[in-house]
Amino acid sequence: KPMRLWGGRFEGGPADALTRLSVSVQFDWRLAPYDLLASRAHARVLHRAGLLSEDELDRMIGALDDLERACKAGEFRPTVADEDVHTALERGLLERLGTLGGKLRAGRSRNDQVATDLRLYLRDHVRTIVSRLVELETALMAQAEEHAETAAPGMTHLQHAQPVSFGHQLLAHVHAFARDIDRLRDWDRRAAVCPLGSGALAGSSLPLDPQAVARELGFDSAAPNSMDAVSDRDFAAEFLFCAAMVGVHLSRLGEEIVLWASQEFRWIEMDDAYSTGSSIMPQKKNPDVAELARGKSGRLIGNLMSLLTTLKGLPQTYNRDLQEDKEPVFDTVDTLLLVLPAVAGLVSTMRVNTAKLAESAPDGFALATDLAELLVRKGIAFREAHEAVGHLVVWCQVNDKTFDVLTDDELIKVSPHFTPDVRDVLNVAGALASRKAHGGTAPDRVREQLASLRDDVDDQ
Ligand code: ARG
Repeated sequence: KPMRLWGGRFEGGPADALTRLSVSVQFDWRLAPYDLLASRAHARVLHRAGLLSEDELDRMIGALDDLERACKAGEFRPTVADEDVHTALERGLLERLGTLGGKLRAGRSRNDQVATDLRLYLRDHVRTIVSRLVELETALMAQAEEHAETAAPGMTHLQHAQPVSFGHQLLAHVHAFARDIDRLRDWDRRAAVCPLGSGALAGSSLPLDPQAVARELGFDSAAPNSMDAVSDRDFAAEFLFCAAMVGVHLSRLGEEIVLWASQEFRWIEMDDAYSTGSSIMPQKKNPDVAELARGKSGRLIGNLMSLLTTLKGLPQTYNRDLQEDKEPVFDTVDTLLLVLPAVAGLVSTMRVNTAKLAESAPDGFALATDLAELLVRKGIAFREAHEAVGHLVVWCQVNDKTFDVLTDDELIKVSPHFTPDVRDVLNVAGALASRKAHGGTAPDRVREQLASLRDDVDDQ
């Protein structure tokens, strides 16, 4: 007869269809280490409350330690008959302790237990995710350092706009990931509240000490409202948002890498270790890592929508719907831990085609703004300068010329403002260096930006 935590008032067993619907151990088993951690803290609080003798506590802790060892060694496994991780672990405890094993459940419900386990699991895994994000930032920053002076076409609307430092563009992505890290750190402050002691919903009549349990488990405080504590999944939804935002940032970087690696751009060459081939076309080298980063953002966003939809409309307090919180959370953690190292590897091993970037940086009359701003410095209204440079662009297009090959006569013919000295600003290096105010693409500013980002990473 399968062991259940709630057999007493039932005659006969549950229907197979119910069991199959209700069982969660196939996915919540990964909470086992956290459930055991919380169990040890709970055993100690029962002891302090006078509900477990010294000897009983020792045997309880010994059995929990042994159970943990057996779980790690794969000797103890959940069976299909265990409804969830809590049921499986109580079975393991009973196998080791007999009746004494049944004492641990006093003052505790799966409702406060599962909410505690999931918070412990997430706080732990968010630390790992942050480390992976830092590794990706580090990879982007190393390339940015290499390419602070590398001129590249800067784009808006995917059209050549103004030349930029390629390092500046890479650091733009680092800032996005830095905000993600900041969000995850801030998330932890709100996640650091411990539900244990809330029981099913109303707290416990036993003299437990939720604040002490909270401290022992590394939380900042115990939940101030037992009803909120067992039904609150804000921490899970907020984590899924933070992760979805990481996904969006990975997707945008992935999209750029796909473009950069294309024949039309040829800005980068991917390392063989981070590209894939085709089963039919022998010449192919495909950016699958970048595409999967882009593609998997879909499930990260979906997981957030899934949980928000589960939560909306739930009355207080615990409802079984809440069991649906785990798979989206686990899937998001797994997805990030798969994608982040692959993208970091792709970025750190890609070779940047500086010659191609430099050659195309001025394309599309990308220095037009520099020309207009030169006229402004000479006292001409920007409106007029904009107009004059626009005419020059059209003249060049009609005559199939670029700015850099124009003669003095040709310049003057289009507008009397275009005296020979305008040529001084018609070079890409000058254009980059001139954007030297805070936040601009001048290589010196890019290096400062990099230093400050590195300081932030070191502080983390
Ligand atoms: N597996 C359940 C969950 O994930 C554990 C809590 C079950 N509580 C209950 N009263 N049925 O939410």
